[in-house]
Amino acid sequence: MFKKLERLWKEKSSRSIISLFDDPKRAMDFSVDLGNLFFDYSKTQIDDECRAELLKLVELKRVEKFKNAMFSGDKINRTEDRSVLHMALRNKSETKIFSDGENVMPKIFETIEKMRVFTKSIQEGEFSGLGGPITDVVNIGIGGSDLGPLMATSALAAYHSGPECHFVSNVDGAQIHDILKNLNPKTTLIIVASKTFTTTETMTNARTALSWMSREVPNPTNQFVAVSNSVSNTKAFGIPKDRVFDFADWVGGRYSIWGPIGLSLMLAIGVKNFDEFLEGAFEMDQHFMDAPAERNMPIMLALVGIWHNQICGYHTRAVLPYEQRLSKLPAYLQQLEMESNGKNVSMEGKKLNYDTGPIVWGEPGTNGQHAFFQLIHQGTRIVPCEFLVGAMGSESYLVKHHDILIANCLAQSEALMLGLSLSEVIERMAQNEENKQEFEAIAYHRVFPGNRPSTKLVYSKLNPSTLGKIIALYEHRVFVEGIILGINSFDQWGVELGKVLAEELTQIIAGKKSAATKDGSTKMLLTRIGTYKKA
Ligand code: F6P
Repeated sequence: MFKKLERLWKEKSSRSIISLFDDPKRAMDFSVDLGNLFFDYSKTQIDDECRAELLKLVELKRVEKFKNAMFSGDKINRTEDRSVLHMALRNKSETKIFSDGENVMPKIFETIEKMRVFTKSIQEGEFSGLGGPITDVVNIGIGGSDLGPLMATSALAAYHSGPECHFVSNVDGAQIHDILKNLNPKTTLIIVASKTFTTTETMTNARTALSWMSREVPNPTNQFVAVSNSVSNTKAFGIPKDRVFDFADWVGGRYSIWGPIGLSLMLAIGVKNFDEFLEGAFEMDQHFMDAPAERNMPIMLALVGIWHNQICGYHTRAVLPYEQRLSKLPAYLQQLEMESNGKNVSMEGKKLNYDTGPIVWGEPGTNGQHAFFQLIHQGTRIVPCEFLVGAMGSESYLVKHHDILIANCLAQSEALMLGLSLSEVIERMAQNEENKQEFEAIAYHRVFPGNRPSTKLVYSKLNPSTLGKIIALYEHRVFVEGIILGINSFDQWGVELGKVLAEELTQIIAGKKSAATKDGSTKMLLTRIGTYKKA
């Protein structure tokens, strides 16, 4: 499938990226402009010929057809026999969207309205705890039921107007302990967010929160709400139907921020800002559905991803937001990208003979610069870097900070591309009058190979609408990459085996089951842990 592209890469890999800018139109030509969102992929080895070949993949793999199939509610998540309709959650048009022959929009509007009413009732103190208005909200969930609201709440801290929001995800009791110990149970609202309402971590934490609250609140479930696809499980937990915000099974966990899983976000930023967040995503959806491939931001972002991972063989991807409030974006994208596209069989279940999704990681700039950027600049592996930066920060009185931030972001991608040759290093050393005898030994350590690719996503300002656009952009990018790779991006069977084994091991640790069938290493570790526990 990638033969021609691989040949092109072989021919062109040694040429310098900077030489491509001999074409004065390159910068504009190799970027996608969406007004207040701008994607620049000109600092890569992709040229006209490579781009044309990459665009052929979009045709060949019938991305257009799959896009329409997704939007039409076809069950493209074949292994779970489900439609994939997270776009419906932010559909701001009159268009009806169907799953199993039923228009899903009325129910979505009803649920969003229920969220709005609830948010207002908290803001206006109409819904209160035993001790008065709600001051704190604890969202208990994990994976898609945590990372989306956690990331977005932190991203939109400048828009926060509601109660303080806290997030508990890990089954490690240290996390819930550290959060609850500072809260007043009489003014705290607990949101138990779980699509299945069976996830061990979430249910364990939910029960701990319930018992914590019951010490001071006689009817603790009065201060609990549930966000789930399983009304029977929420009922069994004791949360009445009117405080359950449900969503359909066609919303994948990692795509669920737009609906009830976003309740903590709505409580934090308010109804109007949440609406703008959805509006931003909807604008990206329209662009994705309508724009021609070459001008289509998610498609071009996906093709750059395919180029670097499948063609150039750069198997990791660093996401580097120069925006402290996006510090959770890399973790969010790790789930979105790696749970979606970390597969080894095709849609039809056939073993693949090419690599699928990349390893995604990252940290905000400028912090990363003082940590792992050494490897990015001088290590032996090439890591394509995806920078994000806003033209303006939210703190207008700290413009100086923001300008330094922007300068650093641009400097890093420039340094990656330009590098620093041995002769340039020697020249600099001479100018600084450094000891000539040490030139030889030291100069090589200061050389930057350069010619390393990076992309830039520039936005005017991180606000609810921009964040909505950015998340939707990445969702569609994952979708397009998945279609080109011929995999199902919407299931996650790879997380199941560990869950089953953990259940069995929990029984063994509790002394309810024998470890006899376990392997030598696991048995040894169980014994050692047992010894430590007794010490
Ligand atoms: O174990 C993986 C996973 O199923 C994710 O896909 C999901 O986002 C997370 O667990 C949480 O699941 P739930 O919302 O059902 O608790």
